[in-house]
Amino acid sequence: MLKDKHGRIHNYLRVSLTERCNFRCTYCMPEEGIDLTPKSHICTYEELLQIIDTFIDLGVNKIRLTGGEPLVRKDADHILHELGKRPVELAITTNGLIVDRFIDVFESCGLKNVNVSLDTMDPDKFTLITRRSGFDRVLENIYTLVERGFNTKINMVVMRGMNEEEIADFATLAKDLPIIIRYIEFMPFDGNRWNYEKMVPADEIRDRLSERYTLIRGEDAPHDTTKHYNIDGFKGQIGVISSMSEQFCGSCNRIRLLANGSIKNCLFSPDETNLLQPLRNGEELEPIIKEVIYHKKAKHAGMFNLSNQKNRTMTTIGG
Ligand code: 5AD
Ligand code: SF4
Repeated sequence: MLKDKHGRIHNYLRVSLTERCNFRCTYCMPEEGIDLTPKSHICTYEELLQIIDTFIDLGVNKIRLTGGEPLVRKDADHILHELGKRPVELAITTNGLIVDRFIDVFESCGLKNVNVSLDTMDPDKFTLITRRSGFDRVLENIYTLVERGFNTKINMVVMRGMNEEEIADFATLAKDLPIIIRYIEFMPFDGNRWNYEKMVPADEIRDRLSERYTLIRGEDAPHDTTKHYNIDGFKGQIGVISSMSEQFCGSCNRIRLLANGSIKNCLFSPDETNLLQPLRNGEELEPIIKEVIYHKKAKHAGMFNLSNQKNRTMTTIGG
């Protein structure tokens, strides 16, 4: 098992399949996109599976595929198919744009949990935020996912001056659909011009929801970063993710594997350890992985002033 020196067991691997994305969300990437890692430094299909299998041998039993946009990777369907054979709970975070092309693959590989990023119900704002079109397709794909029985969650990054007026309206989606609407505090990453004013703290998100609905605190899973709430008469649920205002580092069980084969032991840590080169050199990965996890900091990579930190853009970490 992968344990750090604070006793936290790490069984949840988030795998960024690619740095590329078919959107350019303002909170995630600069307009011009990012400098992509040369292809020779990105894990091939075989290498990726080898690294993932090492983690499975070390006790990982939950894998979430992220990006960039994971589904724009050419062999995404093969990877899904192959991971479907492993003894892990599979999940994906996608922007939803091309989900229709993958829905049969999702079903056949046994993937159950799909998180879709959607920050607004206003088509013009959607174009403003993602710097791309596709609102109708994303919405349609969300409906299809629900119809086909996937556990579907919607991630809304709340940004002041952009979509905070939509907070209560957004919840209405969960009235007739068995989905979870998750409100996420805007976090600082390279290139997204974060500042405190733009962040709407979890308390304010709850206040805005409470103006319209009575929130009933629900149950959270042990390592959940989301606080769940029910609303009477709703088929779905509400979730609030307060990564900035209320830290949940104490129960963190996550490891991040990037498309270039580097691992990060914390989303906010600038430190990375590359596994791809050692793998190509024929070195053992297990001791390297164990060491990286063992030295994980107690919270937010041990830094207080997050906004001044040098880190990657969100798109290469995958959330
Ligand atoms: N702050 C909070 N959440 C973010 N995401 C991307 N960038 C940020 C940010 N700056 C979330 C998106 C997406 C997931 C991959 O990460 O909501 O669902
Ligand atoms: Fe792409 Fe997701 Fe980043 Fe938007 S948030 S640019 S969809 S990776």
